[in-house]
Amino acid sequence: MILVTGGAGFIGSNFVLDWLAQERTPVVNLDYLTYAGNLDNLSALSGDERHTFIQGDINDRALVARLLREHQPGAVVHFAAESHVDRSIHGPADFVHTNVIGTFSLLEEARIYWCSLKESEKARFRFLHVSTDEVYGSLGPDDPPFTETTPYAPNSPYAASKAASDHLVRAYHHTYGLPVITTNCSNNYGPYQFPEKLVPLMVLNALQRRPLPVYGDGRNVRDWLYVTDHCEAVRLALKRGRPGETYNIGGNAEKTNLEVVKTICAILDALRPDEAPHEELIAFVADRPGHDRRYAMDSGKIRNELGWRPRERFDTGFRKTVEWYLDHMPWVDNVASGAYRSWIDTNYKNR
Ligand code: NAD
Ligand code: DAU
Repeated sequence: MILVTGGAGFIGSNFVLDWLAQERTPVVNLDYLTYAGNLDNLSALSGDERHTFIQGDINDRALVARLLREHQPGAVVHFAAESHVDRSIHGPADFVHTNVIGTFSLLEEARIYWCSLKESEKARFRFLHVSTDEVYGSLGPDDPPFTETTPYAPNSPYAASKAASDHLVRAYHHTYGLPVITTNCSNNYGPYQFPEKLVPLMVLNALQRRPLPVYGDGRNVRDWLYVTDHCEAVRLALKRGRPGETYNIGGNAEKTNLEVVKTICAILDALRPDEAPHEELIAFVADRPGHDRRYAMDSGKIRNELGWRPRERFDTGFRKTVEWYLDHMPWVDNVASGAYRSWIDTNYKNR
């Protein structure tokens, strides 16, 4: 089996669903169920004995030690994190606690467990750490995309906490020989994303005829990747990636935020012509402090070494995604209540 952390969040739940659709190996899924974790994402697995869900904190070392001892996983796939940049600006402490200390706790327990294995099992074991392109900082308009050797230059508390966790993972390989792999990925979109993030936030606001808040001039660039393509890249890196290596993963789809929002509006215009044009809802608001201007990923290494490439195109992927949210309004209504509304007030009221 494999131990997945954060498997009730956006990418983690897509990964668990995809993994169990493609593989026979069972999953133990450890997730604390913070505001971002949602068991509804995993409802398709109810009754599937290959999936064991455990609600718990990666910082609970006794729990992690027990799960490793009892389930004897061949790999840990580590998604659990605080993941939203704007929240890291309002409250950085949780990011240090989960992303830095939580990753450290997990590494320590993984190392103790790994040392207890037979030599053949030790050689097969993997600790796969899921990270982000944001650790590399910000690109100018004509800079080449980030490669695995681009120096780290994180600019937000979120990015700094992920960079710190990447460094710890690297150190556990160099110092203790733990067979780690780190993947650094660009912006994901797709089903089950919590609507604090750009894409689902814009879809939901547009459906409710609320303003579509674009930060600054809307010309910041992100490289968009459909979430299932990310999941496939992680699966490949786990199976065939080289221990101690890092792999950049990107969608080769650089877009300004304004292009993304206008794409969503055009899709909604076609699906809900009575409410068109949705673009009239666009509202420019105060920028995110320290807002990185451009991210772009060079995925040459994972393409050449592991044969990975994105399968989904930006236009078809975005259409599928908008349709998914429209088709899953009960899921949307469940997540867009309580804690979500108070976050919207915190982040947007005084912008
Ligand atoms: P998410 O916020 O949707 O989900 C995070 C999950 O981790 C939630 O289910 C939450 O309950 C769980 N969690 C948080 N703290 C925990 C703890 N202490 N113990 C156990 N579980 C805990 O995040 P996401 O967007 O799915 O991102 C997953 C990972 O991928 C993160 O490490 C993130 O940095 C990375 N990443 C995300 C993107 C993106 O575009 N979303 C891109 C690149 C990398
Ligand atoms: O690049 C990978 C990263 O992508 C991941 O590591 C993070 O976990 C993930 O949250 C995401 O970070 P971003 O900050 O790029 O994503 P977000 O959806 O918050 O914002 C995308 C862009 O849209 C960014 O330039 C800010 C802008 N934005 C965002 C929101 C929420 C707006 O203009 N308005 C908004 O209301």
